[in-house]
Amino acid sequence: MMHRITLIPGDGIGPEITKATLEVMEATGLKVEWEVFEAGTSAIEKYKNPLPDEVINSIRRNGVCLKGPTTTPIAEGFRSINVALRKELDLFANVRPAKSFEGISSHYKNVDIVVIRENTEDLYCGVEHRIGDFAAESIKIITAKASTRIAKFAFEYAKKEGRKKVTAVHKANIMKLTDGLFLECVRNVSKEYPDIIYEEIIVDNMCMQLVRNPEIYDVILCPNLYGDIISDLCAGLVGGLGVVPGANIGDNLAVFEAVHGSAPDIAGKNIANPTALILSAAQMLKYIGESERGRKIEKALEIVIKEKLCLTPDLGGNATTEEFSIKICEKIKEL
Ligand code: NAI
Ligand code: MG
Repeated sequence: MMHRITLIPGDGIGPEITKATLEVMEATGLKVEWEVFEAGTSAIEKYKNPLPDEVINSIRRNGVCLKGPTTTPIAEGFRSINVALRKELDLFANVRPAKSFEGISSHYKNVDIVVIRENTEDLYCGVEHRIGDFAAESIKIITAKASTRIAKFAFEYAKKEGRKKVTAVHKANIMKLTDGLFLECVRNVSKEYPDIIYEEIIVDNMCMQLVRNPEIYDVILCPNLYGDIISDLCAGLVGGLGVVPGANIGDNLAVFEAVHGSAPDIAGKNIANPTALILSAAQMLKYIGESERGRKIEKALEIVIKEKLCLTPDLGGNATTEEFSIKICEKIKEL
């Protein structure tokens, strides 16, 4: 079956890791008609707009997008492309799996966590203002609608993926009204899923527990800001930003992207690790009904990393991005 997918190669290392990811997908025999768009700094130069309307329209039309990292413009007046995409398309759920890879040195061996983060509200919206010279105020809004929606998403995800436990993260001991409402909504939803264990934990304790004993966590459900922080912490548990995928999901729309940014420090050097984007693509394939091909990609990555056949510098090797992707493609063809 031929798929139509929007593709944003992105900035910095984006084009290099996107090329690697496309090669890997092609090696599975996948047939895709890509609609390729520039977004980010390259689009600013061309269109004076980091996120042209055609990009949004293309994603709406196709329902699916694979996105490389984009540099957030520092210049005044331009918003973050990621925040804008999530908002325009109402991609309310951010899904970030962090799973240990055999072969990557880490203090932890059996981490298999999925952080599900509410993507549309909370302090992360950046609704702020200065009060004169000596104070500033930021507004944290939590709604029952968004909290219930993300809770349903998390429990449905757990059910579908055969996961056992959902842990809700909060600071309702202090933010009794906002985080309190979030918890109240999650608690209500949890009652509809008696087969899934439900627990709650305060965010600071969550950080401590994750560093001491991450193996006992399964699905972790967070409001926006805590989710941003906790998901990077979880990436650190399994080998860093180069190996964790991500997805932004709404009703009938999804954008798949790595958690990391455009890594300007290593851009153009052919040494970036494409694993995170390749794993994001594997998630995307499962989403569009190509699970078999998605699993093949994951398996090939697992073998290449475990047997240390070919590792990029961030994982202690000296392979180039290109060599790494060639090795993954070879493995896929053997499977
Ligand atoms: P970053 O994630 O780009 O880089 C942090 C560190 O990790 C750097 O040392 C980088 O070399 C390394 N790194 C990241 N990805 C890697 C990979 N695939 N392989 C090997 N090493 C890798 O974060 P930073 O430097 O804070 O942000 C750079 C730009 O990216 C900023 O403009 C930021 O706004 C943007 N950004 C974009 C995101 C997106 O499009 N989803 C997400 C995060 C940041
Ligand atoms: Mg972040």
